[in-house]
Amino acid sequence: MLILGIETSCDETAAAVVEDGRRILSDTVASQVALHARYGGVVPEVASRQHLLQIVPVVQGALSEAEVAMDDLDAVAVTYGPGLAGALMVGVNAGKAIAFARGLPFVGVHHLEGHTYAAWLEFDDPAADPGFPLIVLIASGAHTDLILMRGHGDYELLGRTRDDASGEAFDKAARLLGLGFPGGPAVQRAAEGAAAPFRLPRAWLKGSLDFSFSGLKTALLRKAQEMGVHPAPEGGADGEAVAELAAAFQESVVDVISAKAAEAVRLHGARGLVLGGGVSANGPLRQACRERAPVPVLIPAPRLCTDNGAMIAAAGYHRRVRGAAHGLDLDVAPSLALA
Ligand SMILES: Nc1ncnc2c1ncn2[C@@H]1O[C@H](COP(=O)(O)OP(=O)(O)OP(=O)(O)O)[C@@H](O)[C@H]1O
Ligand SMILES: [Mg+2]
Repeated sequence: MLILGIETSCDETAAAVVEDGRRILSDTVASQVALHARYGGVVPEVASRQHLLQIVPVVQGALSEAEVAMDDLDAVAVTYGPGLAGALMVGVNAGKAIAFARGLPFVGVHHLEGHTYAAWLEFDDPAADPGFPLIVLIASGAHTDLILMRGHGDYELLGRTRDDASGEAFDKAARLLGLGFPGGPAVQRAAEGAAAPFRLPRAWLKGSLDFSFSGLKTALLRKAQEMGVHPAPEGGADGEAVAELAAAFQESVVDVISAKAAEAVRLHGARGLVLGGGVSANGPLRQACRERAPVPVLIPAPRLCTDNGAMIAAAGYHRRVRGAAHGLDLDVAPSLALA
């Protein structure tokens, strides 16, 4: 089954052709990172306009790279929420137009279901499939969710962030430390090889699988002020101090997320742990989850952790094999819930 997946929920215009939910024939991503970097974050109106400019060449690029014609497709899958309304609209309408013109089934996909199914991509060894139930940890720019996945398409939300998402926290920490945007990769790079002689706090929220990162953000600000890193002094902040602050921040986030993911696995007798979302590209987080979880840990390749069309095609495939399809009256759902 050949599925065209389209993703435009935030600042990546992406399209991909995936076979049977696993084999990536093409995966085209036009990132707007450089465009938004000067504002220190994503500007919704700028994002929608850029999606409009990019959507046709990106879809055409994905089809031609896969050497697939529209008539070879078996379905079109598109992210319809959650995300920025104007941004979602571009992808959803492009997908509807293709489905209508070619008489193809149209499948709306939840963005987080896409991040989840990234772990199934390029997963070629069915014998290594741990089976259900699984715990899914989505750590991204707008979410930090722990989800119990009982089967394909069957989700229960176990915990979520009560304030900032982990990716958002990385982005804010990077801004504070003068490391630029997007913050996650910059903080990871700055922290490499550094060991902080101090600890930043962890919000354990005992008895709950929820997360909170806003206290950590404030603690980082105070420590950065104390160490003379923020506001940045003339001539720039001391590199070693920045590295220590980045390392202490990352350590705190990684510690809490990996501990709670492992706890969720134990509490629910899960057979595996799946990671998804941009923050799961983080090296120390990947390592900590593998060390702490008492079960196999499935993590997509780093480039498949952030937004892409392949994950949407993969999620669409698992819906399509169960016969799911949406009408062409499907609207975007900026606050769509997974469960
Ligand atoms: N190596 C890394 N370490 C930590 N964070 C990272 C890393 N790479 C990317 N990130 C973070 O991942 C986030 C982007 O992830 P993603 O594209 O999945 O989020 P989003 O699509 O904006 O949000 P959502 O998926 O919740 O709608 C950014 O906040 C970025 O800083
Ligand atoms: Mg995302």
